[in-house]
Amino acid sequence: MLNYIQSRYTKESGNSCNLSCGSNLDFLKITPGENVLDLGCGRGNETIQAAMLTGPEGKAVGIDITQAMIDVARLNAQEIGISNVWFIKGDIESLPFDDGTFDAVISNCVINHAKNKNKVYSEIFRVLKNRGRFVISDAVTKNPLPPEVKNDPEAWAQCFGGAVTEKEYLDSITSSGFKNIEILKRREYVKNGYNFISITIMATKQKYDGCFECLL
Ligand SMILES: C[S@@+](CC[C@H](N)C(=O)[O-])C[C@H]1O[C@@H](n2cnc3c(N)ncnc32)[C@H](O)[C@@H]1O
Repeated sequence: MLNYIQSRYTKESGNSCNLSCGSNLDFLKITPGENVLDLGCGRGNETIQAAMLTGPEGKAVGIDITQAMIDVARLNAQEIGISNVWFIKGDIESLPFDDGTFDAVISNCVINHAKNKNKVYSEIFRVLKNRGRFVISDAVTKNPLPPEVKNDPEAWAQCFGGAVTEKEYLDSITSSGFKNIEILKRREYVKNGYNFISITIMATKQKYDGCFECLL
Protein backbone atom coordinates (compact mmCIF):
# COMPACT_ATOMS: atom_id res chain seq x y z
CA MET A 1 0.00 0.00 0.00
CA LEU A 2 2.68 2.49 1.06
CA ASN A 3 4.43 2.28 -2.33
CA TYR A 4 1.23 3.27 -4.09
CA ILE A 5 0.62 6.12 -1.64
CA GLN A 6 4.17 7.45 -1.99
CA SER A 7 4.06 7.13 -5.76
CA ARG A 8 0.79 9.08 -6.00
CA TYR A 9 1.96 11.86 -3.68
CA THR A 10 5.42 12.12 -5.27
CA LYS A 11 3.57 13.09 -8.46
CA GLU A 12 1.17 15.42 -6.59
CA SER A 13 4.03 17.19 -4.78
CA GLY A 14 4.86 19.16 -7.95
CA ASN A 15 1.23 20.18 -8.61
CA SER A 16 -0.75 22.96 -7.00
CA CYS A 17 -4.05 21.02 -6.76
CA ASN A 18 -5.82 21.13 -3.42
CA LEU A 19 -5.38 17.85 -1.48
CA SER A 20 -7.19 18.85 1.69
CA CYS A 21 -10.76 18.40 3.00
CA GLY A 22 -10.78 21.99 4.39
CA SER A 23 -8.75 23.90 6.96
CA ASN A 24 -8.85 22.95 10.63
CA LEU A 25 -6.95 25.86 12.07
CA ASP A 26 -9.93 28.08 12.92
CA PHE A 27 -11.36 25.33 15.14
CA LEU A 28 -8.01 24.67 16.83
CA LYS A 29 -7.69 28.18 18.29
CA ILE A 30 -3.90 28.08 18.53
CA THR A 31 -2.40 30.44 21.06
CA PRO A 32 1.15 31.87 20.93
CA GLY A 33 3.80 29.54 22.33
CA GLU A 34 2.01 26.28 21.54
CA ASN A 35 3.56 23.24 19.83
CA VAL A 36 1.46 21.89 16.94
CA LEU A 37 1.85 18.65 14.97
CA ASP A 38 0.44 18.23 11.44
CA LEU A 39 0.03 14.56 10.42
CA GLY A 40 0.45 13.96 6.68
CA CYS A 41 1.43 17.58 6.11
CA GLY A 42 1.80 17.30 2.33
CA ARG A 43 3.26 20.53 0.92
CA GLY A 44 3.13 22.04 4.40
CA ASN A 45 0.64 24.87 3.88
CA GLU A 46 -1.34 24.25 7.08
CA THR A 47 1.83 23.52 9.09
CA ILE A 48 3.27 26.88 8.06
CA GLN A 49 0.02 28.67 8.94
CA ALA A 50 0.04 26.92 12.33
CA ALA A 51 3.65 28.07 12.90
CA MET A 52 2.60 31.65 12.19
CA LEU A 53 -0.16 31.35 14.80
CA THR A 54 2.13 29.87 17.49
CA GLY A 55 4.61 32.71 16.90
CA PRO A 56 8.36 32.29 17.39
CA GLU A 57 7.92 31.11 20.99
CA GLY A 58 6.03 28.06 19.74
CA LYS A 59 6.54 25.72 16.81
CA ALA A 60 4.80 23.56 14.23
CA VAL A 61 6.05 20.20 12.97
CA GLY A 62 4.80 18.47 9.83
CA ILE A 63 5.32 14.76 9.25
CA ASP A 64 4.77 12.97 5.94
CA ILE A 65 5.67 9.58 4.48
CA THR A 66 6.50 11.02 1.03
CA GLN A 67 9.98 12.53 0.76
CA ALA A 68 8.98 14.70 -2.24
CA MET A 69 6.24 16.34 -0.12
CA ILE A 70 8.74 17.03 2.68
CA ASP A 71 11.15 18.62 0.18
CA VAL A 72 8.42 20.90 -1.21
CA ALA A 73 7.21 21.82 2.30
CA ARG A 74 10.75 22.80 3.36
CA LEU A 75 11.17 24.94 0.24
CA ASN A 76 7.82 26.65 0.91
CA ALA A 77 8.88 27.47 4.48
CA GLN A 78 12.24 28.77 3.24
CA GLU A 79 10.58 31.00 0.65
CA ILE A 80 8.29 32.49 3.30
CA GLY A 81 11.25 32.88 5.65
CA ILE A 82 9.65 31.22 8.66
CA SER A 83 11.98 29.40 11.05
CA ASN A 84 9.74 27.86 13.76
CA VAL A 85 8.51 25.09 11.45
CA TRP A 86 10.05 21.64 10.87
CA PHE A 87 9.24 18.94 8.33
CA ILE A 88 10.12 15.33 9.08
CA LYS A 89 9.76 12.21 6.96
CA GLY A 90 7.93 9.54 8.96
CA ASP A 91 4.92 7.28 9.37
CA ILE A 92 1.90 8.46 11.37
CA GLU A 93 1.54 4.91 12.75
CA SER A 94 4.85 5.29 14.59
CA LEU A 95 5.55 8.89 15.54
CA PRO A 96 9.19 9.78 16.29
CA PHE A 97 8.32 12.09 19.23
CA ASP A 98 8.40 11.77 23.00
CA ASP A 99 5.21 11.39 25.04
CA GLY A 100 3.45 14.70 25.75
CA THR A 101 5.35 16.79 23.17
CA PHE A 102 2.46 18.68 21.55
CA ASP A 103 -0.43 20.94 22.63
CA ALA A 104 -2.41 20.26 19.49
CA VAL A 105 -2.55 17.90 16.51
CA ILE A 106 -4.08 18.60 13.10
CA SER A 107 -4.50 16.31 10.13
CA ASN A 108 -6.34 16.77 6.90
CA CYS A 109 -7.45 13.86 4.73
CA VAL A 110 -4.61 11.50 5.75
CA ILE A 111 -5.61 8.84 8.31
CA ASN A 112 -7.85 7.08 5.77
CA HIS A 113 -4.55 6.00 4.14
CA ALA A 114 -3.32 4.27 7.33
CA LYS A 115 -3.73 0.51 7.71
CA ASN A 116 -4.09 0.68 11.49
CA LYS A 117 -6.30 3.61 12.52
CA ASN A 118 -6.24 2.48 16.19
CA LYS A 119 -2.44 2.75 16.17
CA VAL A 120 -2.56 6.25 14.66
CA TYR A 121 -5.02 7.51 17.31
CA SER A 122 -3.02 5.86 20.12
CA GLU A 123 0.07 7.62 18.82
CA ILE A 124 -1.76 10.97 18.73
CA PHE A 125 -2.89 10.38 22.33
CA ARG A 126 0.68 9.52 23.39
CA VAL A 127 2.39 12.58 21.84
CA LEU A 128 -0.25 15.06 23.09
CA LYS A 129 0.22 16.80 26.43
CA ASN A 130 -2.51 16.20 28.97
CA ARG A 131 -5.49 18.42 28.02
CA GLY A 132 -4.08 18.70 24.51
CA ARG A 133 -6.54 18.54 21.62
CA PHE A 134 -6.82 17.50 18.01
CA VAL A 135 -8.92 18.71 15.09
CA ILE A 136 -8.86 16.18 12.28
CA SER A 137 -10.66 15.98 8.93
CA ASP A 138 -10.96 12.69 7.14
CA ALA A 139 -13.03 10.51 4.81
CA VAL A 140 -15.20 7.74 6.28
CA THR A 141 -17.86 5.52 4.72
CA LYS A 142 -21.57 5.10 5.40
CA ASN A 143 -21.32 1.31 4.87
CA PRO A 144 -18.35 -1.08 4.85
CA LEU A 145 -16.54 -1.11 1.50
CA PRO A 146 -16.49 -4.41 -0.42
CA PRO A 147 -13.27 -6.52 -0.34
CA GLU A 148 -12.36 -5.69 -3.95
CA VAL A 149 -12.10 -1.99 -2.99
CA LYS A 150 -10.50 -2.62 0.42
CA ASN A 151 -7.81 -4.78 -1.21
CA ASP A 152 -7.07 -2.39 -4.07
CA PRO A 153 -3.86 -0.43 -3.29
CA GLU A 154 -4.69 2.15 -5.96
CA ALA A 155 -8.01 2.86 -4.20
CA TRP A 156 -6.11 3.34 -0.88
CA ALA A 157 -3.77 5.80 -2.57
CA GLN A 158 -6.77 7.70 -3.98
CA CYS A 159 -8.22 8.45 -0.48
CA PHE A 160 -11.11 6.00 -0.49
CA GLY A 161 -10.03 2.32 -0.36
CA GLY A 162 -8.72 2.67 3.20
CA ALA A 163 -11.77 4.49 4.55
CA VAL A 164 -13.64 2.72 7.37
CA THR A 165 -17.19 3.34 8.58
CA GLU A 166 -17.90 6.39 10.71
CA LYS A 167 -18.59 4.10 13.69
CA GLU A 168 -15.29 2.21 13.32
CA TYR A 169 -13.45 5.51 12.98
CA LEU A 170 -15.03 7.01 16.11
CA ASP A 171 -14.37 3.74 17.99
CA SER A 172 -10.63 4.13 17.25
CA ILE A 173 -10.75 7.59 18.82
CA THR A 174 -12.73 6.50 21.89
CA SER A 175 -10.64 3.37 22.51
CA SER A 176 -7.44 5.44 22.37
CA GLY A 177 -8.68 7.33 25.45
CA PHE A 178 -9.92 10.62 23.97
CA LYS A 179 -12.74 12.55 25.65
CA ASN A 180 -15.08 15.39 24.57
CA ILE A 181 -15.33 13.97 21.06
CA GLU A 182 -17.25 16.39 18.89
CA ILE A 183 -18.10 16.29 15.19
CA LEU A 184 -17.59 19.83 13.94
CA LYS A 185 -18.45 19.31 10.27
CA ARG A 186 -20.02 16.46 8.32
CA ARG A 187 -20.68 16.33 4.56
CA GLU A 188 -21.93 13.31 2.64
CA TYR A 189 -20.73 12.59 -0.91
CA VAL A 190 -20.54 9.77 -3.45
CA LYS A 191 -17.25 8.52 -4.88
CA ASN A 192 -17.01 5.68 -7.40
CA GLY A 193 -20.60 4.75 -6.54
CA TYR A 194 -19.96 4.44 -2.77
CA ASN A 195 -21.37 6.71 -0.04
CA PHE A 196 -18.69 8.61 1.89
CA ILE A 197 -18.71 11.26 4.60
CA SER A 198 -16.15 13.99 5.04
CA ILE A 199 -15.95 14.62 8.78
CA THR A 200 -14.06 17.05 10.96
CA ILE A 201 -13.64 15.86 14.54
CA MET A 202 -12.30 17.52 17.66
CA ALA A 203 -11.37 15.72 20.90
CA THR A 204 -9.16 16.18 23.94
CA LYS A 205 -6.71 14.09 25.91
CA GLN A 206 -8.00 14.19 29.47
CA LYS A 207 -6.06 12.14 32.02
CA TYR A 208 -6.21 12.41 35.79
CA ASP A 209 -3.33 14.61 36.86
CA GLY A 210 -4.42 15.63 40.35
CA CYS A 211 -7.34 17.72 39.09
CA PHE A 212 -10.74 15.98 39.39
CA GLU A 213 -12.63 18.99 37.97
CA CYS A 214 -10.55 18.75 34.81
CA LEU A 215 -12.00 15.31 34.11
CA LEU A 216 -15.59 16.60 34.14
C1 LIG B 1 -4.53 14.01 0.75
S1 LIG B 1 -2.86 14.44 1.11
C2 LIG B 1 -3.15 15.71 2.31
C3 LIG B 1 -1.97 16.66 2.49
C4 LIG B 1 -2.22 17.82 3.43
N1 LIG B 1 -2.66 17.38 4.74
C5 LIG B 1 -3.23 18.79 2.85
O1 LIG B 1 -4.31 18.94 3.45
O2 LIG B 1 -2.93 19.40 1.81
C6 LIG B 1 -2.30 13.07 2.14
C7 LIG B 1 -0.85 13.16 2.61
O3 LIG B 1 -0.65 12.15 3.61
C8 LIG B 1 0.60 11.53 3.43
N2 LIG B 1 0.54 10.19 4.04
C9 LIG B 1 -0.20 9.12 3.65
N3 LIG B 1 -0.01 8.08 4.46
C10 LIG B 1 0.86 8.48 5.43
C11 LIG B 1 1.46 7.84 6.55
N4 LIG B 1 1.20 6.57 6.87
N5 LIG B 1 2.32 8.56 7.31
C12 LIG B 1 2.60 9.87 7.00
N6 LIG B 1 2.08 10.52 5.94
C13 LIG B 1 1.21 9.84 5.16
C14 LIG B 1 0.82 11.56 1.92
O4 LIG B 1 2.15 11.43 1.56
C15 LIG B 1 0.20 12.90 1.53
O5 LIG B 1 1.15 13.93 1.53
